[in-house]
Amino acid sequence: MQHYSMTPSTFDQDLDMSQMELPPRPTLFDFHGVSMIKHVTENWDSIQNFKARPDDILIATYPKAGTTWVSYILDLLYFGQTFPERQASIPIHERVPFLEISAPSRPSGKDLADQLPTTPRLIKTHLPVQFVPKSFWEQNSRIIYVARNAKDSAVSYFHFNRMNITQPEPGDWSTFLKDFMEGKMVFGSWYDHVNGWWEKKQTYSNLHYMFYEDLIEDCGREIDRLCSFLGLSPSAEEKERVTNGVTFDNMKANKMTNYSSVPVMNHRVSPFMRKGKVGDWKNHFTVAQDEPFEEDYKQKMKNPTLKFRTEV
Ligand code: A3P
Repeated sequence: MQHYSMTPSTFDQDLDMSQMELPPRPTLFDFHGVSMIKHVTENWDSIQNFKARPDDILIATYPKAGTTWVSYILDLLYFGQTFPERQASIPIHERVPFLEISAPSRPSGKDLADQLPTTPRLIKTHLPVQFVPKSFWEQNSRIIYVARNAKDSAVSYFHFNRMNITQPEPGDWSTFLKDFMEGKMVFGSWYDHVNGWWEKKQTYSNLHYMFYEDLIEDCGREIDRLCSFLGLSPSAEEKERVTNGVTFDNMKANKMTNYSSVPVMNHRVSPFMRKGKVGDWKNHFTVAQDEPFEEDYKQKMKNPTLKFRTEV
């Protein structure tokens, strides 16, 4: 393992976005059958030509499934003891770069991933399975897919789009929910995403498919499963340190994991670490919204082996 030598980000938790001239929100367009925005497709050839390594670990999710949570678990498992200074100085989104993102005046995720000095490299993606750079499959890299039930994903995505100016304007909740059902979201349809990755798991053995609801139910058990997939055997003390570090409250209070350093996010509108619960959908869905949602869900989620829990 090499020493981690990235420059710490500047920090400005109290950034007042009302004083800033805000860029226009991006709009969605169809990209090979999936709704996307330009921050994700701009460097497409370069992303597709990304050179994965056999020991890379890709964390893949539909947005809002617990990507940051699992990223931080892995980061602590691999580097928590070796490089404790990283924990205090480099935000998680730099330790685990977002492969396909290229936001203005920031290094692209692909460049950050290329420059990662660690082994393994932990890399995050929201790409649907058919868009993953082919070198990951060729190198047989390990992939962890995290899925979260559709209703809580929709609610979390709604609040995320409200607070993040690099996301399309969400509109009101009922408009957003309709768009979610129609796949008019950045990274497309939740239904296609979770199903596409589930199918891939049947043929690609280096894929660990896990669920946000299971993490909420028993984070320690899920860390054990992750460790057995990754071939790691942390001591009881080490595991305890990881489990304790990744609780919702600790991650919310931790400037390196709560995204408070990201200027495009306005945590006054909605914090990134918002609720961290299973079942918050009940505070958003009306009965009149839930019934057609359920009906539509049955049509789209025909595979009986892929089951989600909306309560724990
Ligand atoms: P909510 O908006 O429902 O609170 P992602 O990292 O994929 O963008 O996912 C963000 C969601 O995961 C948010 O959901 C966030 O609160 C939740 N989350 C992040 N860390 C968590 C943790 N340690 N425990 C529970 N939920 C967590």
